[in-house]
Amino acid sequence: PQQVYEELHANGSLRWDQNRGCWDIYGYELVKEVANDHDRFSVRFDADPEFVEPEGGMITGKSMLYQDPPRHDELRSVVDDFFKPGAVRSLTPEIETTADRLLTEATAAGGEFDLVTALSYPLPVLVIAEMIGVPADDRELFREWSTFAVSASGNKGPEDEMMQQFRDGITAYFDDLVAKRRENPKDDLLSKVIATEGLDREEMLGFFIILLIAGNITTTNLITNAVWTLAEEDSFDTLRENPEMIDVALEEVLRYRSPVQTHTRVAVKDTELDGKSISAGDRIGVWFGAANHDPTVFDRPDEFIIGRQPNPHVAFGHGTHFCLGAHLARLEAKVAIKTLLDRFETITLVEKPTKPSGSMLVYGPQSLRVSVS
Ligand code: HEM
Repeated sequence: PQQVYEELHANGSLRWDQNRGCWDIYGYELVKEVANDHDRFSVRFDADPEFVEPEGGMITGKSMLYQDPPRHDELRSVVDDFFKPGAVRSLTPEIETTADRLLTEATAAGGEFDLVTALSYPLPVLVIAEMIGVPADDRELFREWSTFAVSASGNKGPEDEMMQQFRDGITAYFDDLVAKRRENPKDDLLSKVIATEGLDREEMLGFFIILLIAGNITTTNLITNAVWTLAEEDSFDTLRENPEMIDVALEEVLRYRSPVQTHTRVAVKDTELDGKSISAGDRIGVWFGAANHDPTVFDRPDEFIIGRQPNPHVAFGHGTHFCLGAHLARLEAKVAIKTLLDRFETITLVEKPTKPSGSMLVYGPQSLRVSVS
């Protein structure tokens, strides 16, 4: 999207998008302002006057991602402890072992494989499944749900049959799991959610869907985008010689090829942004990915500069809804890159990824064939 960003920024920080019927916000400062001002801009679906509540309710609508404070804060505090730096750090050995095992399996038949299937997809799923307490064996099911959820989000209006099937499937799955765990509580996130008072069924479901689906596809894309970019830029040797640079290199991947490109808000009062009048009820696309290429903040924004510092990107959002899983995503990506470097002397792309995106929302190749030796 590099050329696209350049053109967008040349034409201002925001514009009315005729096709989608919403405002699109690209400028770095505006993105931060809108993302964090819940008094003027809501994340709730029902803040949009055209929103039609589907029969049976919205499947993610009651998760923290789609609630404003104060309910947002209450929901976030239920699971916050699992994602704090110390808690996440303690998962390192498990993540390392998993990454190593996945790469052993991937190379059993030779030195060429699809990185997404072999590592980028299974690694985050296995880690979060363990943390939540859901059977990791069901990961293909989660993958189907993720793909569907990401392609369906952003749609509005009456729902179709696919959506209904998706909701029924996922609801039945979790109802069953919750019933079993109630009888046999453990030390996992599922048990914590069950033990928390005052959560209704949709709110409970909201945790699992957001964590299992939104948190995974994004981390998958970070790992894939990192390997894609480092191979393309011939940077693996730099990191092998300077492993302390892996952290900053990953921050630059997050900025340069942001896994989450955009998310939506709705204006809840008439207001102004950058001199333009915004009316209550207007939808706003907040383009984190474009803000990360704003030339007024990032020097040579469309270049990958491996040691870029400072790098105040907004790939994990900003403010109230700042990504809950940021520490975990960073750790998983770091372990993935380190494990690849430890095991292989060369890592090259077999071909350039084709159409590197599953939807407008998230950005990353759906497969990435690599050759290692
Ligand atoms: C929120 C990006 C990984 C869970 C967000 C937001 C962004 C984001 C941009 C803010 C959305 C908004 O303000 O509208 C990413 C990226 C990831 C990643 C780029 C990987 C590289 C994860 C992981 C998890 C996770 C691993 C959990 C397992 C969440 C949750 C929220 C969130 C629960 C909502 C937080 C809230 O509403 O307070 N993420 N995410 N994310 N993310 Fe992530």
